[in-house]
Amino acid sequence: MWDKEANVARGLAGVIAAVTHISLIDGEQGQLSYCGYDVTELARKSSYEEVSYLLLYGELPTAGQLEAFEQLLLDNRAISPALLDLLRNLPGAPKPADALRTAVSAMAATDSSPSDVSRPANLRRAVRLIAQMPTIAAAHWRMRQGEKPIDPDPSLGHASNFVYMLFGRAPRQVEARFLDMAMILMAEHGLNASTFAARVTAATLADIYAAFTSAIGALNGPLHGAANAEAMKMLLEIGSPEKVEAYIRAQLMAGKRIMGFGHRVYKSGDPRAIVLREVLATLDGDLNKPRWCKMAMEVEDQVHKQKNLYPNVDFYCAPTLYSLGFPMELFTPIFACSRSIGWAAHILEQYDDNKLIRPDAVYDGPAQREYTPLAGRK
Ligand code: CMC
Repeated sequence: MWDKEANVARGLAGVIAAVTHISLIDGEQGQLSYCGYDVTELARKSSYEEVSYLLLYGELPTAGQLEAFEQLLLDNRAISPALLDLLRNLPGAPKPADALRTAVSAMAATDSSPSDVSRPANLRRAVRLIAQMPTIAAAHWRMRQGEKPIDPDPSLGHASNFVYMLFGRAPRQVEARFLDMAMILMAEHGLNASTFAARVTAATLADIYAAFTSAIGALNGPLHGAANAEAMKMLLEIGSPEKVEAYIRAQLMAGKRIMGFGHRVYKSGDPRAIVLREVLATLDGDLNKPRWCKMAMEVEDQVHKQKNLYPNVDFYCAPTLYSLGFPMELFTPIFACSRSIGWAAHILEQYDDNKLIRPDAVYDGPAQREYTPLAGRK
């Protein structure tokens, strides 16, 4: 007889399911590196495009390689009229994160060589997905507001161009830099739920669009990539730093989770949250609105005192994106656009050395029994 507790790794906690060259998380030390480079240093010194190159090719680019890669992204930014029509005609009023998932799935239909499953072909598809996801998110958002989509601006970098396509104005340099930093920090994180979902799908040898669709679906849940918007709603609900202590106490007493806190792997703090806390402090100063950082730090303090939990990337990302002017409904799509590079790197890694991912379950249902025909059932 099996022992349920002993044999089941609930949530696959602690199970090693892949060998990867992409990132290393040290949960005890609170450290994260991409291909050997500390993520906090990459966030402070690199651009999103440089980090994307690193995650896809395993090395930081030379100046020439970076220029060529940036050009590749530029060349792939525009989305097809058919995709625009699809976004315009989606039934109901889907949330931006759901519209992004549907559009990414539909991109499979516009693939010019679906039968080519070579690595170069999948790399081309990955670049197309990474380049077009911000365009999809921006176009859907604008059409949802009754406004016309804006074509990409080739003079702008990846993050700045996203802001331009959304709001029709390029961000200030400081804003572009902070968005770039946030995107770098969200770009990759080992076998998190969405990346694992992508790898599970890729492992069946389904195409990269299917794997991205699975990933976006998994990201859209509140325990994963939708926690950022929930964290912002909480900060808005609290309203001011002096109300934090009682609010957190009441939430915990009611058995509710504090969104943006806790983590499966980090037990002494999430290094990405620390960088974003600094960004938020600078942003508050820059915008002359010293509101969010003080309140967020008070929440951090109280959740640590009352529940011994640390903030994760989503917690400080939320007021950072809010201060940069992004609507809350776009927080998860921005996370998806940032994480697209991590998904792509893992999907390619999975294809390179594939084995179907198929764990077991122990059966705990009724014992074998006799079938009763419909007429005889009571
Ligand atoms: N607020 C209150 N209690 C919490 C929280 C939280 N945010 N996180 C964990 N706990 C408690 C939980 O109730 C449980 O307590 P008990 O043992 O008394 O039942 C204990 O801590 C362990 O929680 P768990 O859910 O078993 O731990 P996990 O490793 O499966 O979950 C998590 C990790 C991220 C899902 C969880 O911490 C959580 O729900 N956090 C809030 C949502 C969130 O911020 N998600 C973003 C995660 S990081 C970025 C990303 O990947 O998207």
